[in-house]
Amino acid sequence: MIIAVSGKGGVGKTLVSSLLIKKLSKTGKDVLAIDADPDSNLPEALGVDVDRTVGDVREELKKDTTQGRIPPGMNKWDILDYKIMESVIETPQFDLLVMGRPEGSGCYCAVNNMLRKIIENLSDNYDIIVIDTEAGLEHLSRRTTQNVDVMLVVTDNSKRGILTAHRIGELAAELDIRFKDLYLILNRVQPEMEKEFIKRAEETGLEIVGIVHEDDEVALYDMDGKPLVELPNDSNTVKAVSGILTSILKD
Ligand SMILES: Nc1ncnc2c1ncn2[C@@H]1O[C@H](COP(=O)(O)OP(=O)(O)OP(=O)(O)O)[C@@H](O)[C@H]1O
Ligand SMILES: [Mg+2]
Repeated sequence: MIIAVSGKGGVGKTLVSSLLIKKLSKTGKDVLAIDADPDSNLPEALGVDVDRTVGDVREELKKDTTQGRIPPGMNKWDILDYKIMESVIETPQFDLLVMGRPEGSGCYCAVNNMLRKIIENLSDNYDIIVIDTEAGLEHLSRRTTQNVDVMLVVTDNSKRGILTAHRIGELAAELDIRFKDLYLILNRVQPEMEKEFIKRAEETGLEIVGIVHEDDEVALYDMDGKPLVELPNDSNTVKAVSGILTSILKD
């Protein structure tokens, strides 16, 4: 099963992704986490150090090619596949692949264009893949997430957050990308605004699969740079994301 977490910038994609991974890795399943955000911070949320990204691997190979260091008779793409496999970071709980971005001012689309093929190549090795996507809609327009089973769209209560969520639903339909499930998650919900938030979120036409409240503990972890996966199991946010996972896995 491939789960992607999407939405506008800063709405809580990485929070939701990291807590899904925390919960999933306790179920004994083989989990691969993919950070597809070029300005990546999933590794920090998961408490994992990263020394090499897919972007780095691609740069190395580009240099090797221009400097004639590819051994004769070897296919560049086979080397790339091999190097990507090598850059998967293994931890006792889950594996992690960070897409990263090319050096300097280069466009990161080249790296993200590789994502679909990487998912295809790696999906046989894992029970579940969780992708923390780049903010916005490009993962859809580039079709990097077209083979995803469950698309989770996160929004906060901002008009732009809800609008992006609405557009993700619309664009997927326009491009005829049919996820098995497409759900909306409401994040940073404040009790006094909950009713109005739900009403506006319902106007997107997306099914709401869960609600995560504004949580001072999350803000504190963030302030101290503490991995979010270390949030205690009795944290309301951890419990809310666990509930969302249960709903996703139910059908
Ligand atoms: N429920 C919450 N309660 C308190 N703070 C939250 C909550 N959800 C997210 N935040 C805070 O909001 C900020 C953005 O969250 P996060 O990094 O998960 O969003 P994102 O969608 O991954 O952002 P980006 O698009 O930059 O990758 C973080 O500082 C995070 O700690
Ligand atoms: Mg993020």
